[in-house]
Amino acid sequence: MTQTYRITLLPGDGIGPEIMAVAVDILKVVGQQQNLTFEFNEALIGGAAIDAVENPLPKQTLDTCKQSDAVLLAAIGGYKWDTMPRHLRPETGLLGLRAGLELFANLRPAQILPQLIDASSLKPEVVEGVDIMVVRELTGGIYFGSPKGVFSTETGEQRGVNTMAYTVAEIDRIGRVAFETAQKRSGKLCSVDKANVLEVSQLWRDLITALSSEYPDVELSHLYVDNAAMQLVRWPKQFDTIVTSNLFGDILSDIAAMLTGSIGMLPSASLGADGPGVFEPVHGSAPDIAGQDKANPLAQVLSVAMMLRYGLDQPAAADKIESAVLTLLAQGYRTGDIQSPGTTVLSCKAIGETLIQILNQG
Ligand code: IPM
Ligand code: MG
Repeated sequence: MTQTYRITLLPGDGIGPEIMAVAVDILKVVGQQQNLTFEFNEALIGGAAIDAVENPLPKQTLDTCKQSDAVLLAAIGGYKWDTMPRHLRPETGLLGLRAGLELFANLRPAQILPQLIDASSLKPEVVEGVDIMVVRELTGGIYFGSPKGVFSTETGEQRGVNTMAYTVAEIDRIGRVAFETAQKRSGKLCSVDKANVLEVSQLWRDLITALSSEYPDVELSHLYVDNAAMQLVRWPKQFDTIVTSNLFGDILSDIAAMLTGSIGMLPSASLGADGPGVFEPVHGSAPDIAGQDKANPLAQVLSVAMMLRYGLDQPAAADKIESAVLTLLAQGYRTGDIQSPGTTVLSCKAIGETLIQILNQG
């Protein structure tokens, strides 16, 4: 029987539309092979939505997302909107999407592919075999805590405020996702906080520690975030699954991404308790190369694989895409961001066409 899924496509800004086009073609090919059909609905988000309707997350977009089985997002943002007031910034649309779909768990894998080991700025012996999953809390913490804003003090001075806050329930649910993720991986979980300074982090640490009694098969450790940042660069192989709060996860996931040499390779999944997840590359909209057919579409393609695996429970289809990407790299094809001597640089579109050839051969 053919299974049909409703997928909302949010191409967004910059290189978003180019990489989305490649990813959708790949999804269609794998769908044919695996007997899956897709109904696509495209919607506006970010700068594209600001330009069209003066709202980075139009209600219609959120409604379309809510009615779908999964959401595939490319990238948002660009210089053009960087100086706009906050409610007219692309990032506000992305945060609204996360909050609107209650996507509290963000999974960001960073895996060193042997084919790309030379792309890393670290020594091969340091990064070889690195395979990390950052589980970032995504709808709480300082990104969403109140009070927030710029207020006048009694003396009339302006004072900017954000609040890092977590409830027990918020820590508990992200903790469970992290322990379960670690169980499916090597069984090692490192929780990252700043409990030596922050009360909110002490609560985080206490609750994660308490939860560990329910997951005796997972080996739990704790690090302060400054040390974790250092350890990630010093000896990343000590990590398997990392769980951390929204802001710390934002920062650590960029560090973990860069261990692999290019942020252009990394997908992510944002999941809620129920309802559709959002699957998107970790990288941004790269406005400097937009429209030039130069972008690396592989993070977007691998986001399709994460969507199949974590959003639609179609692991066989996900495997096909991931193995096609490995074959492509093994054949020496690259985009500019990951090129090295002896490899062949292809355009964004040509990477897509080559992947389709590989899928049709396999
Ligand atoms: C990310 C990005 C976003 C974040 C920005 C674009 C709002 O950096 O997804 O990591 O800070 O969460
Ligand atoms: Mg970030």
